[in-house]
Amino acid sequence: MTPGDSAAASHDGRNPDATAPHGAASDAVAPHGDVSARLEPMRRRHVRACAELEQVLFARDSPWPPAAFHSELDLGGHYLVAVDGSVRDGDEHVLGYAGLAIMGKRGDYETSLHTIAVRPEHQGTGLGKALLRAVLAKADELAAPVLLEVRTDNDSAIGLYEQHGFQRLGVRKGYYQPSGADAYTMRRDAITGERREDGH
Ligand SMILES: CC(C)(COP(=O)(O)OP(=O)(O)OC[C@H]1O[C@@H](n2cnc3c(N)ncnc32)[C@H](O)[C@@H]1OP(=O)(O)O)[C@@H](O)C(=O)NCCC(=O)NCCS
Repeated sequence: MTPGDSAAASHDGRNPDATAPHGAASDAVAPHGDVSARLEPMRRRHVRACAELEQVLFARDSPWPPAAFHSELDLGGHYLVAVDGSVRDGDEHVLGYAGLAIMGKRGDYETSLHTIAVRPEHQGTGLGKALLRAVLAKADELAAPVLLEVRTDNDSAIGLYEQHGFQRLGVRKGYYQPSGADAYTMRRDAITGERREDGH
């Protein structure tokens, strides 16, 4: 998750001219917690709840307003929400979400994990892992590498990314605003057909 300049700007340096396939429905997940959740494509009706969760989780680092989510959906990113089927204050209750921006064209895709978040009371239950794996499956389908930025002090996110094949590329000083926190840039190489056959 990275800061953006305006509502419609990404938290990241994504290419606004990118052409990208739309995300497909994802599978049910069974986190370790006592809530049963399923993953599904993010829809406009989920945006308000996602933006509210942003305010809770990224208060110091330019939380995305609803317009930023709408912009990402307009661009055709692979965005998923974890839901439990309940409704709160008229909105479908969102337990977490993740979004992969897709740049480039067939045969030469590149992706960027623009956001991943789990409601505080559901963190540590396996939901973050389920969301990450679901968006990585999309990158693998496209044989695309995945890039991301993460605060250097975000041990849980870094642990999750390293567990899924991401490696640190470098540090971006003062990347997050207004906090001024540094970011690691991380990359997960594309999983090609050959590597899949090798079982890697
Ligand atoms: C990062 C985040 C999405 C992870 O989701 P989660 O549901 O809490 O994570 P999970 O329960 O699926 O745990 C997955 C992995 O995260 C890592 N992890 C979780 N907590 C950790 C901690 N305190 N220290 C190190 N690694 C940790 C582990 O690798 C864990 O795998 P394991 O259970 O096999 O050990 C969640 O903590 C979150 O929303 N944080 C706030 C928002 C945020 O920082 N997003 C990332 C922006 S780059």
